[in-house]
Amino acid sequence: MSVPAAESSAMARARELGWDVLGTTSPNPAVGAVVLAADGTPVGEGATAPPGGPHAEVRALAQAGERARGGTAVVTLEPCAHTGRTGPCADALLAAGIARVVVAVPEPTRLAGGGAQRLRAAGVDVVLGVEEAAAAEGALGPWLTGVREHRPQVVWKVAGTLDGRVAAADGSSRWVTGPEARAAVHRLRATCDAVVVGSGTALADDPRLTVRDADGRDADRQPLRVVLDRRGRLPSTARVHDGAAPTLVSSAATARALLDELFTRDVRRVLLEGGPTLAAAFLRDGLVDEAVVHLAPTLLGAGPSLVGDLGISGIGEALTLTVSGLTRLGGDVEIRLRPTRHTGDGRTADDRDATGGS
Ligand SMILES: NC(=O)c1ccc[n+]([C@@H]2O[C@H](COP(=O)([O-])OP(=O)(O)OC[C@H]3O[C@@H](n4cnc5c(N)ncnc54)[C@H](OP(=O)(O)O)[C@@H]3O)[C@@H](O)[C@H]2O)c1
Repeated sequence: MSVPAAESSAMARARELGWDVLGTTSPNPAVGAVVLAADGTPVGEGATAPPGGPHAEVRALAQAGERARGGTAVVTLEPCAHTGRTGPCADALLAAGIARVVVAVPEPTRLAGGGAQRLRAAGVDVVLGVEEAAAAEGALGPWLTGVREHRPQVVWKVAGTLDGRVAAADGSSRWVTGPEARAAVHRLRATCDAVVVGSGTALADDPRLTVRDADGRDADRQPLRVVLDRRGRLPSTARVHDGAAPTLVSSAATARALLDELFTRDVRRVLLEGGPTLAAAFLRDGLVDEAVVHLAPTLLGAGPSLVGDLGISGIGEALTLTVSGLTRLGGDVEIRLRPTRHTGDGRTADDRDATGGS
């Protein structure tokens, strides 16, 4: 679906706005919106506020004021038509006198759907599916995963050496990568609702799992820290119990059971930080949506590898991934990948009413 250049730029900006609030909106989607005046000039922008606060369109309209009349709203997700904790966005757009609405992702839930229909019925020109894949794979990804699979999106992050070791043979693994890569991990954590490790990592490294700035100060908003510890081995003195952020010690029997537990707590994006045993469990069950691998130009020659046993015996069974991004982080390299064979759990149930709309 092609649109004028001004609307395409506005859509790119709307996607960025969504990214900026990722990690603060769950269980609601991280939506971005830009309002263009009748002459195509951007006059307002906004993103989803934390739950209970205004939606992206409402914030963008507030900034635009009277300049929105006769203009265009460019939004990453179809404006909702239902009254949840806030009023319907479709009505707000009509009240502001918007003449055209350009949408990336059509609303997939029955509960919030109908926005485009309501706008069209009132004479507004509505275009759906504009640069849809970019928005769906971006900040809307966690929420869409929730709608489709009733579980949070999982990003697996791992740091290793060039020969794929995550720790030395003696178990020490601190500072595999340099400061730039470690700073990137803190930025990544900030986009997530929960950070998950297995008991092996918690016992070996005693990580704090908080989001910190370059000076080591804890950020104001912290994701839930989760340790998967089925045998109750985590000591009460572990640093995840330092009170700096909420912590959940779970004894969920499987990776999927943990995700179910987190989903009911409104978690929509999980950062899986290890270690190799737990990562293998998630990968085996088709529960990794994206991998962020930091590789350091060092060799260890021994020690645990990036991932544990995947139950694969022949090359034909290899789990394949496609590279979606490559970035240098100081002396290290970040590779972003998506599993090619991703099975999920197949639960694309018709019941799509569970989660709220834009
Ligand atoms: N460089 C890196 O990025 C990085 C990141 C993380 C860890 N590491 C290193 O990795 C090493 C630890 O490796 P690890 O494999 O022992 O750590 P792990 O994967 O964090 O923990 C493994 C433990 O998780 C528990 N667990 C809970 N639910 C599970 C499930 N569904 N499937 C499998 N396990 C489950 C199991 O203990 P219970 O049965 O008791 O629950 C299991 O022994 C350390 O040396 C650490 O430094 C490196």
